[in-house]
Amino acid sequence: MLKDAQGLVVTTEKAQAIAAINRFIDQALYYGKDAETAILQAIAADPTCALAHAYAAAYYLSQENSKAWQQAQPYLQIAQQHSAKITTREKLYLQAISAWANQEIEVAIAIHEKITNRFPQDLISVQQGQYHYFYLGEPEKLLQIAQKVLPRNQENHYLYGMVAFGLEQCNQLKAAEKMALRAIALNRYDPWAHHAIAHLMETQGRVDEGITWMESFADTWENCNSMLYTHNWWHIALYYWQLENYQKVLQLYDRHIWERANKQSPKDQVSAISLLLRLELRGVNVGNRWEAISPYLYSRIEEHALPFQDLHYVYALTKAGHHDWVKQMLQSMQYHTLRINPFLRQRWLEVAIPAARGMVAHAQGDFNTTVAELKPVLSRLHTIGGSHAQQVLFQQVYQDAAFSAQKQSWIYAAS
Ligand SMILES: [Fe+2]
Repeated sequence: MLKDAQGLVVTTEKAQAIAAINRFIDQALYYGKDAETAILQAIAADPTCALAHAYAAAYYLSQENSKAWQQAQPYLQIAQQHSAKITTREKLYLQAISAWANQEIEVAIAIHEKITNRFPQDLISVQQGQYHYFYLGEPEKLLQIAQKVLPRNQENHYLYGMVAFGLEQCNQLKAAEKMALRAIALNRYDPWAHHAIAHLMETQGRVDEGITWMESFADTWENCNSMLYTHNWWHIALYYWQLENYQKVLQLYDRHIWERANKQSPKDQVSAISLLLRLELRGVNVGNRWEAISPYLYSRIEEHALPFQDLHYVYALTKAGHHDWVKQMLQSMQYHTLRINPFLRQRWLEVAIPAARGMVAHAQGDFNTTVAELKPVLSRLHTIGGSHAQQVLFQQVYQDAAFSAQKQSWIYAAS
């Protein structure tokens, strides 16, 4: 048995496997583009290493699409086959990832809490716990799972970035800024800490400062995965949107967001869609950009990885004129609620499905239906996840519909 760079025991005798696991951990915490390569190298170095297989499964599950979910399965099976003599932490981690694969998110979270109580150096478990809390709309718990391990990771800038994001989502903006700046002082290459700063400056209305600050770190994102590369640029684009510099927003969309997106990646697609929607809310002509995205959304129709994502897809498909696909997707969402884990069912049934109908109605210009569908669920939309900056989009759609419906009624009354 050997120890990883966090000082945690891994069941392997191969130094090369440990070196690759260390690279994977660093890549995962940095949101680097080489995380997949690193973990596959660990498996190649020691095909019997259960933890490496569990990490690979977690990597594919985090892609949130059906093809990657299928890719995760054999890694989980091999991890199980080699699990007889692994450590308690490795067993727990494997259970957490298996629960995630079964969509038993509440079980996965409970195990990540247990791991981080007993092994506070395990920052991959902290990150995955935060990830689940993020998509359940539970910012306090997202913060707590990172905060509780601070005493044991005093010099780890990645953890400071994770805590900073949690503080920001809990509206503790001063503390969030201090924590993110601590991370960046230790290592300028901490894109998740940059991301926390992007959020808090936006919340505080520090738009010009946010642009200068974020652009000064953009060179450090070149080796990020496409999700965080495009998302950090999405935050910069939001600043320009607030300044009503729509030409610049379109330029950033073309150069750094859709251009640099992994076109098959749900998270990259969501950033692009949410930016186009915001531009249209301001009356900007986005040209054929909806049509350019829509072919990549076909495989999303019956996927239903995360309700937050689905609300974006139905909007984009409607705007691109794929009404049959939209109908199919809305029906499939209904069917999905019959199969899903009861813990998640209410979020789909009572929040996501009416909200999806509201989003479709807005994209069709049916503002009365938008208001009727969105108004009852607005206060619960946070339970399907996303950050404040992402969630506010649904409020903006609702407000636009309420205003437009009112305007239409005035025109009707005057005619
Ligand atoms: Fe963000």
